Amino acid sequence: MPAELVCFESRCRSRYPITEIIYNCPRCGGLLECEYPGRKADPAEWKRLWRQRRMNNGKLDQSGVWRYREMIPFLDDWAAVVSLREGNTPLLEAPRAAAYADIERLAFKHQGFNPTGSFKDNGMTCGTAQAIRLGMKRVACVSTGNTSASMAAYASAAGLQSIVFLPHGNISYGKLAQALEYGARTLQVEANFDQILALVRVLAERLGIYLLNSINPFRIEGQKTIMVELMDQRDWEAPDWVVLPGGNLGNVSAFGKGLREMLELGLIRRSPRLAVIQAAGSAPFYELMRSTDRSVLPKVERPETLATAIRIGDPVSWPKAKHEIEASNGVVEKVTEQEIADAKAQIGLCGIGCEPASAATLAGIRKLRAAGVIARNADVVAVLTGNLLKDPDYIYKYHTKQLQAPGGEKIESTFANQPAVVPNDPDRIAELLS
Ligand code: F0G
Repeated sequence: MPAELVCFESRCRSRYPITEIIYNCPRCGGLLECEYPGRKADPAEWKRLWRQRRMNNGKLDQSGVWRYREMIPFLDDWAAVVSLREGNTPLLEAPRAAAYADIERLAFKHQGFNPTGSFKDNGMTCGTAQAIRLGMKRVACVSTGNTSASMAAYASAAGLQSIVFLPHGNISYGKLAQALEYGARTLQVEANFDQILALVRVLAERLGIYLLNSINPFRIEGQKTIMVELMDQRDWEAPDWVVLPGGNLGNVSAFGKGLREMLELGLIRRSPRLAVIQAAGSAPFYELMRSTDRSVLPKVERPETLATAIRIGDPVSWPKAKHEIEASNGVVEKVTEQEIADAKAQIGLCGIGCEPASAATLAGIRKLRAAGVIARNADVVAVLTGNLLKDPDYIYKYHTKQLQAPGGEKIESTFANQPAVVPNDPDRIAELLS
């Protein structure tokens, strides 16, 4: 099946061979996407095939990404794919979180169940496959932590060398530890994410290193399958809303593309509305979508949030994200540090848990419900993007009432669960517990 790289800009739409090593359109600088001209689906047959593959032990069929390979046919040969059995993430009913947000039904699609603990694995298996196909030996990314953890793991599994660039002092130790353990060459730069991305793009070009940030269109292809797997888990009935956190805006771009393609191919009958939630201190996309002029992103020079995964002021994928929000009749909301912290504790109390950025979803749903944007009886899926153990420091501080917002103001530990120090004395402990 033919696959091509196409400029995303509607006024350009230049086409390039799928094997060209470019991250932006050489003609207009626009973002690139993968296209499969002439692809046709047999929806009933594909759905049957995808179900059947769940029973097989083969590498591709066991992967929650490559199982849906008809949706992402950019390779000529699947043999070189490196899979850590990514995807396959559960859809978990969460009545307690629904009650917190004042809605009747809420389920979490938990991407934190991935091999390196975040949704980045869905995209990284595809980005790595393309790197191998192109004969690249080194891969690089800038990251707020999860992309680097994922890239390091897939690169090592594939025998590639990985180089990660991190904003010094602004990523959680859980994520930094992963990059080190998976064997990435790790460079901590005294700059923020947006500044480092510009730096890495220059270095990738100069040193011939393959770039695996989410501007890489093959990463987007992999992340698209999160929506395909979600619909498969729901027997192809779309929810009313899919809610996700927004940082560099690759994920919303991927979800929107996946939903549009499933609609065009006849796999689903209607699309959910997308809701992107940003942290108030890092909310350029929220400001863009509120503005009457949606042609220029109002960058945030000094983005701040304790949800470090989404601490991004100049998200590269904003043109795609804007298109997907408009195409799905979606919305963008922002939430405070306090709202994120409390929503996160509520997700923990469901027995589910997530990292801070992911909790922006529940905080956002609660806010959108209060504003009447989301109806009480709406069918809502929130995507939890990262695992609880990514950032234990944040959790400990919240429950011991030490969490402070970036500006220094205290965050109330509304749902604190403080550990107690007790003597080694059964009588005293029994008294305490009675
Ligand atoms: N949630 C988590 C846990 C993330 O790690 C990220 C992004 C996002 C949400 C936002 O997704 O960028 O597609 O809008 N983390 C990137 C990284 C930036 O470097 O790991 P997005």
